[in-house]
Amino acid sequence: MAVMRNVLAYFLLFTMIALTSMVAQDKKAPTKLVFAAKNGNVTYDHTAHTKREKNECKTCHPAQWPQDAKAPLNWKAAMHKTAETAKTSCGSCHHAGGAAFETKGNCTTKCHIKAVEKKG
Ligand code: HEC
Ligand code: HEC
Repeated sequence: MAVMRNVLAYFLLFTMIALTSMVAQDKKAPTKLVFAAKNGNVTYDHTAHTKREKNECKTCHPAQWPQDAKAPLNWKAAMHKTAETAKTSCGSCHHAGGAAFETKGNCTTKCHIKAVEKKG
């Protein structure tokens, strides 16, 4: 009987540990993130990006970024070219011939979109 109780106790303990770690990993995904930039802020559609990856968080986390909007993106203007060549950060997909459009020629059409000024 004592053996059975131990087995049960361990089983419960491991189940609890497993569930706790699952919950800890399941951080709530943001819908949109805004990255500040002098030539126009970039609105990153996290929902659209995640959907296109079939909800596979692993495509980006933690390989490219931790799940933390305060962590460095490693994608400042001066890094665009280097990252596209190295296929890192946003450049892992956004590069010539990649899964998504490259930065060249798309600065203001796709990414750095300035708010339209309202006419008075
Ligand atoms: C296509 C890439 C991509 C995929 C796929 C992706 N994320 Fe993200 N996620 C990002 C980027 C980029 C950031 C911002 C990182 C930074 O600023 O350093 C981010 C940030 C986050 C943050 C931090 C939000 C905050 O306000 O601090 C959380 C939480 C997160 N993601 C959860 C998820 C979850 C859960 C999934 C899967 C359902 C997922 N992500 C899939 C790219 C992705
Ligand atoms: C896992 C691949 C992947 C990564 C990583 C990725 N993107 Fe994308 N992105 C895509 C795809 C695919 C599209 C849609 C196809 C296209 O327009 O070429 C897209 C589209 C976009 C768009 C147009 C609006 C939209 O969401 O449809 C913007 C802006 C954008 N990405 C910015 C970024 C930024 C900024 C980063 C880095 C923080 C990033 N992307 C990282 C794959 C990716």
